[in-house]
Amino acid sequence: MSKKVLILKSSITGLLAVFLFTFFISKNKSETYEVLTKLNSNCPPGFKKNANNECIAQNLYMQYNSPNGLGVGGLQTGLPEIRDGFSPQQIDLGRYLFFDPILSGDGSMSCASCHNPEKGFSDGQKTSLGNNHQKLKRAAPSLWNVAYLKKLFWDGRATSLEEQMQEPLFSKIEMNNTPDNLLNKLNSIKEYQQMFAEAFPDRAINSEIKLNEIYKSIAAFQSSLISLNSKYDRYAHGYHDALNDNEIEGMNVFRSFVARCAECHTPPLFTNQQFAVIGTPEPNGIQFDPGAQITFKDSTLRGAFKVPSLRNIEKTAPYMHSGNFATLRETVEFYTQGRGHAVPKNENLIIHWHIWEPNLTAYELDRLVDFLKTLTDETFTPKIPNTLPSGLKPSV
Ligand code: HEC
Ligand code: HEC
Repeated sequence: MSKKVLILKSSITGLLAVFLFTFFISKNKSETYEVLTKLNSNCPPGFKKNANNECIAQNLYMQYNSPNGLGVGGLQTGLPEIRDGFSPQQIDLGRYLFFDPILSGDGSMSCASCHNPEKGFSDGQKTSLGNNHQKLKRAAPSLWNVAYLKKLFWDGRATSLEEQMQEPLFSKIEMNNTPDNLLNKLNSIKEYQQMFAEAFPDRAINSEIKLNEIYKSIAAFQSSLISLNSKYDRYAHGYHDALNDNEIEGMNVFRSFVARCAECHTPPLFTNQQFAVIGTPEPNGIQFDPGAQITFKDSTLRGAFKVPSLRNIEKTAPYMHSGNFATLRETVEFYTQGRGHAVPKNENLIIHWHIWEPNLTAYELDRLVDFLKTLTDETFTPKIPNTLPSGLKPSV
C-alpha cells in the first residue's frame, strides 16, 4: 500500500470518528435542551386517564346503579355525580397552589393553613383563625370527597369550587389578597409560568397566567381528594369481616328508624346534601348563626346548615359549624338530649322532622362512635410538595 493511500484511509476514518463524535454530542445536547416537564402526567390514585388526558373517577360504588338519596336504602347504593375530567397536570399544579402561602396577601397563609391534610383537611380549631389570627365565625369543613358536593359552605352560599375559593382568597379577614396582586405575584415566578403553560397547553404561547386557570387548578386538586376505601366500604362491598361486632351494632343504630342518622347522613357519601335545622348550640358568648336562612332567603331555614359528610370524621374534631363539641361522643350525645334542647329561648326554630328523641343508651352512643370511626380512609392523601415555585415554605 502506498503512503498516499494510507494517509487518505486514515484521514477518512479520522473524519468518520470526528463526525460520529459530534453526532453523539449534539444528540445528547438536544436531549438536555428538551422542555423539562414539571408536572405529574399520571392521574392520582382513584382516577383513570382517558384518551383526552382527562382523569376519570373509578370506584367500586360505580357497580351499583340505585341512586343516592333514597332514604335509608341499602349499603350498595351509587354515589352522586362527581366533578372529574381534569388533566393530571391541572391536578398537580393545583397541589402546588393549595400549599403555597404566596396565595395570601402577605405570604403567610395557604389553603392548607385551614385545610391541613394531617387534620382531615380541617384545622383542629373550633372556628378558623384568619389574617392576623382573627377568629372566623365558623369551623373549617373537611375537603375529602368535596368533588361530590353540589353546594358549598355550611350555609350553601357557593355552587362551585371556583366560586367558593374566591371568598377565602380575597376576604380581608382570611387570605387578604386581591386579584391583581395574586396575578402579579404568580406571573413574576418563572416556574409557575412554565407550570401553567404545561397545565393549559391550548392557550397562546407566552400568555399570562389568568385567574380562571388558578381557580381551575385548585378545583382540580380538591376534586382529587377521594376517600371511599374505609373499613366501612369494605363491609359495604360484601367483605363481612371488615367490621367487628361493636362496629356492626353501631351501624345498625345509625341506620335504625329510632336514631335516623342515615336519613340525613345517607351512605355512601354520608350526606344527602340537604339543609336541616337540627338546633346545635353556639359556644358561650357567640351570637346565634342564622345559617342557610340568609342564603335561601327562607325563614323556615333559620338555623339550618348543610348536612356534612361524615367521612374521616374521626380526624376533624371539634364538631359542628361552630366547633362546639370537642369529641365524637359529645356530638352523638347531642342527638339524644331532646328535640330542640339547645335552641336559645328567644328563637323559634322549625326543627327537622327526623330530629326526635331516640333515647339512646350510653352503650348505643359508644357503639355509634365505634361505627363513625370505621369511616376513616386516608390512603389517597396527596404529598405535600417539598419545595414550592415561590420559594416559600409550604404552610399547613
Ligand atoms: C383562614 C382559614 C381558611 C383558609 C385560609 C381557607 N379556608 Fe376554606 N374554609 C374555611 C372555613 C371556616 C370554611 C367554612 C366557612 C363557612 O361555611 O361559612 C371553609 C370552607 C371551604 C370549602 C367548602 C367546603 C364544604 O364542604 O362546603 C372549601 C371547598 C374550601 N374552604 C376550600 C378552600 C380553598 C381552596 C382555600 C384556598 C384558596 C381555602 N379554603 C382557604 C377556612 C379557610
Ligand atoms: C335531620 C338531619 C340529620 C339527622 C337525622 C342527623 N344529623 Fe348529624 N348533622 C346534621 C346537620 C345539619 C349537621 C351540621 C349541624 C351544625 O353544624 O350545626 C350535622 C352534624 C353531624 C356531625 C358533625 C359533623 C362535623 O363535620 O362537624 C356528626 C358527627 C353527626 N351529625 C352525626 C349524626 C348522628 C350519629 C346522627 C344520628 C344519631 C345524626 N347525625 C343525625 C343533620 C342530621
